[in-house]
Amino acid sequence: MGGLVALEGPDGSGKSTQLCLLREVLEGRQLDVVWTREPGGTVIGEQIRTVLHDLANDAMLPITEALLYSAARAQHVAEVIRPALARGALVITDRYAASTLAYQGYGHGLDIDMLRQITVLVTGGVIPDLTIYLDLPAERGLERKLVDRSAGQGEWNRMDQQALVFHRAVRAGYLEMAQAETERWLVLDADDTMQAIHQQIMARIEPLLT
Ligand SMILES: Nc1ncnc2c1ncn2[C@@H]1O[C@H](COP(=O)(O)OP(=O)(O)O)[C@@H](O)[C@H]1O
Ligand SMILES: [Mg+2]
Repeated sequence: MGGLVALEGPDGSGKSTQLCLLREVLEGRQLDVVWTREPGGTVIGEQIRTVLHDLANDAMLPITEALLYSAARAQHVAEVIRPALARGALVITDRYAASTLAYQGYGHGLDIDMLRQITVLVTGGVIPDLTIYLDLPAERGLERKLVDRSAGQGEWNRMDQQALVFHRAVRAGYLEMAQAETERWLVLDADDTMQAIHQQIMARIEPLLT
């Protein structure tokens, strides 16, 4: 048994929800499963996460973002993922390298090949055995956000419009990566019911448990 599973998808797509459902099932079994997340998963990584999420850092450049996520990932792979895989554990991470390619690459327009090289550098080539991508149209993601933020003010402003273009590019990037590696990616409709999504995830993870 063992391997690396990454959950990907926009904020609000249901990653945390699915990790929670998965955890309920897997914790009942005698399995070595490591639950982790990016950015973070290590003491240094969590410090980097704070810098990345600080709303005061609105001047942060996409390249700075890419390098900080990558720096956190280097720690994550070295301290958590690689040792766990070496002893045969199943590692399940909330986001991984595909997020950097999707957001800083396809979203912000940084060179994808350069980001892939940085990714190889920081991961030492550790790639997920399975990436589960919770796919949500950009409009739906923003809808969920708007509903959360302002109790249903449906009007688009310039920032929302920019965000929509950005999130469309991110989604297109995820789908392109998934189509390029269909055997390593599972694309699921994030608008499906939580239980239906959970069943499909279980069906793909089960072979990694034996
Ligand atoms: N399949 C689903 N259908 C409808 N709502 C969902 C579904 N999965 C999750 N949600 C809801 O969407 C919100 C964001 O889910 P969450 O798991 O936190 O997403 P993420 O971790 O990807 O940001 C939560 O309120 C959650 O209850
Ligand atoms: Mg989450």
